[in-house]
Amino acid sequence: MIRQAIIPLAGLGTRLLPITSVFPKELLPINGKPGIEYILDECIEAGIKEIIFIISKKKKLIKKYFNNDKFYKKIIKKKKDKRLFNEYKKIQKYKKMIKFVYQNKPMGTGDAVLKAKNLIKDNFFLMLLPDDLIIKRNCSKDMIRVHNKKKCSIMASMRVNKNTVNRWGIYAKQSTINKNNFYIKDVVEKPDIKSAPSNNAVIGRYILPKKIFLKIIKLKKGKGGEIHITDAIRKLINEDELFVAHAFKGKYLDCGTMSGYIKSSQEISKI
Ligand code: G1P
Repeated sequence: MIRQAIIPLAGLGTRLLPITSVFPKELLPINGKPGIEYILDECIEAGIKEIIFIISKKKKLIKKYFNNDKFYKKIIKKKKDKRLFNEYKKIQKYKKMIKFVYQNKPMGTGDAVLKAKNLIKDNFFLMLLPDDLIIKRNCSKDMIRVHNKKKCSIMASMRVNKNTVNRWGIYAKQSTINKNNFYIKDVVEKPDIKSAPSNNAVIGRYILPKKIFLKIIKLKKGKGGEIHITDAIRKLINEDELFVAHAFKGKYLDCGTMSGYIKSSQEISKI
């Protein structure tokens, strides 16, 4: 059973500057709702019971957003506003599930995950990268279903344009399970076009084994001087750990860039 999720939120958001110089990108509204709430809703609907937020001192506003009870209680007392009451109820529901952990230097996804090491209880957990929205289908739920059958690690995947392979983790297939699921034999973080093993990219949903922490601890800095989860996954695959790439059915939206962020609102407003 997958009961816990980790969400790394300590990134600087440089691709969305200048707004991110003062405001966490994950709180920016996408069609009227903070981006992070889409991720939370996906987790809750997939049966996740506890969500670990990896934040930084610079992103304390995220914590405040979920812990502003005094403010709500006061204002709800004054204004008997049904909408406000419902929003507060929703935030309270989220708050009960969230634990906060700090990563004060943004050293990459692997380093972020490592910060949650002591909180992970089961053999497998879910990790979601909040820049990657997947709409029209609950990708985490589908991945958990595959995990329950295969009892192994899973990563969301999507075919990308060959010219963009150096922006993604790129994997090589080992064998086909069915139309949407494949065993992986290798994965490389942001390869150049010549050395890329394919144009199949990893997207920000992972079901990872607890033993990945042992690999992350030993990792040296990789691409761009960061500790990448992809490099730890590669080490596990080399030791014959089974990893499945799940070609998800929903629509992918990249909220980490300005054009992607704008497009996300447009796409979600059409649903
Ligand atoms: C991260 C991962 C990369 C993955 C991507 C998906 O990169 O390191 O392997 O393909 O997310 O969005 P980032 O977007 O943090 O550069």
